[in-house]
Amino acid sequence: MLRHLFYTLLLTIFLLAMNGCGKLEQEVVEPVAEKFISELPSNLATNIPQPERNLMTKEGVELGRTLFYDPILSSTGTVSCATCHQQERAFPDGRALTTVGVTGKPLLRHVPSLVNLAWMSGLFWDGGAKNLESVSFGPLTHPDEMGQDLKALTKKLQQHSQYPQLFKKAFGSDSVTSAAIGRALAQFQRTLISANSRYDKFVRKEAGGELTELELQGLTLFKQHFSSCHAADFFTDNRYHNNGLDSSFSDEYEELAYGRGRISQSTADIGKYKTPTLRNISLTAPYMHDGRFSTLEQVLEHYRTGIVASPSLAPELQQQQLGLPISVADKAKLIAFLHTLTDEEFVKPGD
Ligand code: HEC
Repeated sequence: MLRHLFYTLLLTIFLLAMNGCGKLEQEVVEPVAEKFISELPSNLATNIPQPERNLMTKEGVELGRTLFYDPILSSTGTVSCATCHQQERAFPDGRALTTVGVTGKPLLRHVPSLVNLAWMSGLFWDGGAKNLESVSFGPLTHPDEMGQDLKALTKKLQQHSQYPQLFKKAFGSDSVTSAAIGRALAQFQRTLISANSRYDKFVRKEAGGELTELELQGLTLFKQHFSSCHAADFFTDNRYHNNGLDSSFSDEYEELAYGRGRISQSTADIGKYKTPTLRNISLTAPYMHDGRFSTLEQVLEHYRTGIVASPSLAPELQQQQLGLPISVADKAKLIAFLHTLTDEEFVKPGD
């Protein structure tokens, strides 16, 4: 009897284990293509965060890159992601509010840089998009950006002479779906990594990483006054702040000027925007969520003398007085430091 129980128990364990294995086999999705491997700069991170359901492969990244630069993604066949996100500028387009979308109407927010996105917890100025897999559907379908119906897009790509093959290589099936388009674009955008500026080489104590006396003084001032929000080495804290640009916030255009408050629907968040990274900042003018400042000099003058009070203003900007206690001479030092964050390799075409 005992023996019988023992064997039954063994059999049960065996069956359970088999069942477990079977389940595992079903859940593990083998990448159909070659795993994408990148060597990351040691001061940034040790691996690229990526979701299990969309692990990067060489073919997936390549497909994403092809899609990113292809105007076929817009209803008119004239606008690609790269029309607004230009590599030589670290991926914005140099305009305050761009007019290069399919209708030529100005957009309501400034085009941000696309850099180190894999580590960003919220996307868009207000964090309204949660992940890179879905963020593309915003610009694709926005009537003034790419104006593209997604069904029509999958049809166009399915009938294309090359794309079905590229999707097959990347995802194992030549059926083009909008989910696969989003995944490929996400994989490519995770490769937009910038951490090879002179500042980075300085931090890593590499050749070419020398900073001048002025730049070093700028770095000290930066750490003192700016690094709580623009936290190194991503130069963003991935959070939302009101940096004193306006005193009132219109509810026009579906509360767009509420910033983060539009997403969270909390009055405490009205007028807050995501801290943008400062990487490549010398290339990404104009500045702020609406591109209102054309130079770094104007930006620093804003922090020095231009801060406007409102209920959600960041406490860092209203201590003894409104604004940051920096002098005119400090501005030149800070600007010298900010220029050391330019990564020439990142903006070189062909990368
Ligand atoms: C017509 C101009 C335009 C086009 C075309 C465009 N974008 Fe953008 N992009 C913007 C603007 C403007 C924003 C900022 C929107 C906001 O925050 O409300 C943005 C924001 C983003 C962001 C968020 C970045 C961050 O730091 O939060 C990503 C990612 C992005 N775009 C990817 C893409 C991809 C991928 C494509 C192509 C499928 C694309 N964009 C096409 C103008 C454009």
